[in-house]
Amino acid sequence: MTSNNHQVSVVVGAQWGDEGKGKWVDVLAKKSQIVARFQGGNNAGHTLWIEGTKYVLHQIPSGIFQKGLISAMAGGVVVHPVGLVGEIEKMRGVVAITPENLWISARSHVITPWHIHLDGVREEKSSSPIGTTKRGIGPTYSDKASRSGIRMGTYIDPHRRKEWMDTMAAANFDFAIHVKTHPTVWQEFQNAAEKIAPFCCDAETRIRAAIREGKNVLLEGAQGTLLDIDHGTYPFVTSSNTAAAGACTSIGLPPHKINAVYGIAKAYVTRVGSGPFPTELLDDVGALIAKKGNEFGATTGRPRRCGWFDAVAFRYSADINGYAGVIINKMDILTGIPTLKICTHYTHPTLGTIKEFPWDWKILENVTPHYESFPGWEEDISKMKHARDLPKNAIQFLRAIEEATGTKIKWVGTGPGREDMLEADF
Ligand code: GDP
Ligand code: IMO
Ligand code: MG
Repeated sequence: MTSNNHQVSVVVGAQWGDEGKGKWVDVLAKKSQIVARFQGGNNAGHTLWIEGTKYVLHQIPSGIFQKGLISAMAGGVVVHPVGLVGEIEKMRGVVAITPENLWISARSHVITPWHIHLDGVREEKSSSPIGTTKRGIGPTYSDKASRSGIRMGTYIDPHRRKEWMDTMAAANFDFAIHVKTHPTVWQEFQNAAEKIAPFCCDAETRIRAAIREGKNVLLEGAQGTLLDIDHGTYPFVTSSNTAAAGACTSIGLPPHKINAVYGIAKAYVTRVGSGPFPTELLDDVGALIAKKGNEFGATTGRPRRCGWFDAVAFRYSADINGYAGVIINKMDILTGIPTLKICTHYTHPTLGTIKEFPWDWKILENVTPHYESFPGWEEDISKMKHARDLPKNAIQFLRAIEEATGTKIKWVGTGPGREDMLEADF
């Protein structure tokens, strides 16, 4: 059975997001007392299937369905208050959400209607849009960095919230106009504060205390390593540190406290939005994977671009995160595809052979991927109980991923449900 015995562990996306983090956090959190999201906001869409019902969580951490567990949104997260209130209400009757089991960091930054407006305008005006989720993520993190943002602890205090809005309006005429011309949106934004206030606390101090007491804590990443603001395909990235180290800054956790990092990858690759994608398949195979994998964004519904597993990109993410365990998810989607490929290296017109993931998106956009090919399998693997029973071609494909990436696969995903996962005992 899938289990995580480490005291403090981190789950990150190893690719460009949507690897299946939600499902794996739910499962790996079984022995945890706390699951804390450490970055991102409602740009994330983490899908869980619990007893036949689908839940897409955008802000609430994916451990919420584990009994007795505390969910925390740490300081590195950006919060959309109205969306969060809606998510909490949706959970009514499914899981009781109380200030005891949901901690929202007073240090987290708040996404306001202004930030969402700016995200939309910037994308629409740009000659090379990033293809953001238009949830206001970039502008909120920008204001955090420029020290003009509003933190959760300030937002829930009506006087301090007004002070912030007045300061912003005095400094920025467009902000003042936006507040004036969108009274309903701003009223909703203000109304949500009262509902969120009971959950707001010094979540980081509580998490550190829990770790000192020996509690098991799982730190949930959003997006994926290749969307990291520093290490991703900048500027086609999100605005936070999605890599495992981001968990330390978000929570204020000494790096040596992290015992294990789990990297989730699909058996192929998907990407939403713009930016380089060397192994992208623009042919019938790409369309088939998209259809079989139902590759549509869980947040925006946009079609996800699909491509072959990229070992160059994966080695890079493994280098950055130091995986104690690699999870290859959605293996079932490759069933029935006659020939499967793994990209082992790139070539570039002037730089020649490239084995290390390049820092520059312009380089990445001009590389040619080189593949090793493998025969596929026809057998339905979705009901299998042991990885050793997988078709020999599926095992060969997984071993080839291990070899091409220099990592060890720990678990394999064979379906969207909690049970659809195999220990890599092949
Ligand atoms: P996340 O953002 O990383 O949590 O991933 P998403 O929820 O955005 O996308 C993953 C999608 O794949 C969801 O629809 C999941 O229900 C689904 N899924 C997760 N693991 C598997 C798997 O092993 N096989 C199949 N067929 N679907 C899976
Ligand atoms: P989860 O957690 C996939 C992408 C957007 C865009 C870029 C910047 O579900 O894996 P942003 O709105 O963050 O400023 O957009 O990042 N992106 C994601 N892609 N999965 C996600 O989250 C994503 N969150 C953001 O498509 O390319
Ligand atoms: Mg997602």
